[in-house]
Amino acid sequence: MQIHETIAGLRAALKSAGRIALVPTMGNLHEGHIELMTQARSHADTVVATIFVNRLQFRPGEDFEKYPRTFQADCEKLAAAGVDHLFAPTETEMYPQPQTYHVVPPVEHDATLEGEFRPGHLRGVATVVMKLFNIARPHVALFGKKDYQQLMVIRNMVTDLNLPIEIVGGETVRAADGLALSSRNGYLSTAERAEAPRLNRLLTKVVEAIRTGNADFAGLERQATAELATAGWSPDYVAIRKSLDLQLPSAHESGLVVLAAARLGSTRLIDNLEV
Ligand code: PAJ
Repeated sequence: MQIHETIAGLRAALKSAGRIALVPTMGNLHEGHIELMTQARSHADTVVATIFVNRLQFRPGEDFEKYPRTFQADCEKLAAAGVDHLFAPTETEMYPQPQTYHVVPPVEHDATLEGEFRPGHLRGVATVVMKLFNIARPHVALFGKKDYQQLMVIRNMVTDLNLPIEIVGGETVRAADGLALSSRNGYLSTAERAEAPRLNRLLTKVVEAIRTGNADFAGLERQATAELATAGWSPDYVAIRKSLDLQLPSAHESGLVVLAAARLGSTRLIDNLEV
């Protein structure tokens, strides 16, 4: 695997790379990331992974500084997964001066769900992903459904701005007890790690209720939020939305997804399940 710190170096290496698949990450790689790398192989001649902890998508007071950086171990995992190129730029390579132009998602994303509780987060994601697309010029790019709204924002950006890139969504990879793998799981204490699968159990319960005909979506959301709070979590939201655009569904609508975000101690976890 070749490692590139500069845009020029990566571009030179990709000159005759054929069909390129891009898998952007912030590192501290786990099986969820690696699954995307493996899937990428089947879509392209050349697989490019990126590792860049993108300051632009963190709010002041969030975990940008303490975000786990495990570069050596990440490189070994990527090489073992058959990744051809790793682009791991420095901050000055990506942001030689403060970013002045941004990709701003429409308000229905920028101000709801993750957008509501992490203002500016999705615009930081869209902006860095647009930069990474322009740097690597991939034919296809892979993102996890774990970050459902992020995947949707990127899909919409690509469509709306006519980027010639195919977006592929990968299924969420989970631990045996149902907890979605996440770099942030490493922040959890032993007791919190034992409690954390509740989030997925709760989503499963809501999905079952909807499948068996319960159409009181607001009631289901309220009940699930209250259950999290009772168990000591600080829930941001449990939301039943249309999977196509994450807008509010009408009763008995199909094609739904249940999304949740909540803090357990100081760790913010997100998860979702399609109905
Ligand atoms: P990061 O959290 O490192 O995730 C990188 C990619 O892995 C994302 O597409 C994410 O959805 C996917 N992923 C994370 N956990 C997963 C799991 N358990 N199963 C399947 N896929 C999973 O998401 C980001 O980085 C950043 O926002 C980024 C897109 C790189 C822009 O900075």
